[in-house]
Amino acid sequence: MSAPLPIALYGTGQVGRAVLARLERFADASLVVVHVENSRHEWSDLDADAAQIVLDATASDTVAARHAEWLARGVHVVTANKLGRGASLARADAIEQACIASGARYGDAATVGAGLPLLRSLRALRAGGDAIHGVAGVLSGSLAWLFAHFDGRVPFSTLVREARAAGYTEPDPRIDLSGEDVRRKLLILARAAGVALEADTVQVESLVPDALAAADLDAIDEQLATLDAPMQSLLDAARETGARLHFVARWHDGVARVGLETLVAGHPLAAGGGTDNRVAIRSARYAGQPLVIQGPGAGADVTAAAMLDDVLAIRDALRGAQAIRSVATSSKNASIGWGRLIA
Ligand SMILES: NC(=O)c1ccc[n+]([C@@H]2O[C@H](COP(=O)([O-])OP(=O)(O)OC[C@H]3O[C@@H](n4cnc5c(N)ncnc54)[C@H](OP(=O)(O)O)[C@@H]3O)[C@@H](O)[C@H]2O)c1
Repeated sequence: MSAPLPIALYGTGQVGRAVLARLERFADASLVVVHVENSRHEWSDLDADAAQIVLDATASDTVAARHAEWLARGVHVVTANKLGRGASLARADAIEQACIASGARYGDAATVGAGLPLLRSLRALRAGGDAIHGVAGVLSGSLAWLFAHFDGRVPFSTLVREARAAGYTEPDPRIDLSGEDVRRKLLILARAAGVALEADTVQVESLVPDALAAADLDAIDEQLATLDAPMQSLLDAARETGARLHFVARWHDGVARVGLETLVAGHPLAAGGGTDNRVAIRSARYAGQPLVIQGPGAGADVTAAAMLDDVLAIRDALRGAQAIRSVATSSKNASIGWGRLIA
């Protein structure tokens, strides 16, 4: 049996801890965690540079800025952090080029839809010669939950507090409400669809009123009520047309936007419940009816599972390459043998 693959994990928050718990339960002798670090501590059996796979379970720009460097050294990267392919186009291109140059793999299934087969499907369609014309979706589990529950009976700010207490939003809910997180996901999807989309070309409609945006982190709670009147009037206007509010990301015909939309029941993006993500893909193959993918798109456990799937795919690819090498070596030996035989 070949030596276990050394893994370095960055981030010990909700996702990082879920990854460690899953690896422990999985107890596979082919994988070994040799280094763990967060923003304050490092725990090392081996130097992080000895790792063959780096797992990024942070939201850190500093860590994401290292993805291309790791890949260029031949180190595989598996990430839940969207700031790799979801930040500047230059960084996304550097990641692509590093993978091509070194052959290292970049596992990003956890960055959008927490492992739902979204990126995988887009890449498979392109690899099969399909042309992707557009992607539209509800990409935020926390915003999906908020708008599924917002019917005017309870103020929007109360629902935001509930969602935060249940761990559906980031500790600072403005990160969800500003649309920034969704913008990064749309960039990752559009780039996977083959579009060189610059980060600042996405139009983002933030839900955060100025007073809430300006508040210090510990003063957010008292400013949450500034959301209530504008959200209630948007809900009332939607109801007049028999529709509901949904926070939607769209890329189509070179235009990318993220913001609130009113959708009638029966619309492909209005289905599902809870924290479900829903994505509709239009392509040459799916021109009339879009391909729709829906399912739970948030939560540390499904995100950790998606990261582990990517790790196992890398391990299996390495094993496959090893097997091919040993077949090639034995067939080379065999051909030397045959050569001698017929000489
Ligand atoms: N939670 C979810 O349901 C979910 C779903 C999909 C994707 N994600 C993504 O997964 C990532 C992690 O999310 P999370 O919920 O686990 O966040 P979290 O609980 O806030 O944990 C983040 C971790 O990153 C560490 N960190 C920050 N800067 C670092 C640095 N420079 N070097 C090493 N470690 C650093 C933090 O260290 P300290 O402990 O020292 O602060 C913390 O341990 C994020 O990118 C998030 O968007 C999360």
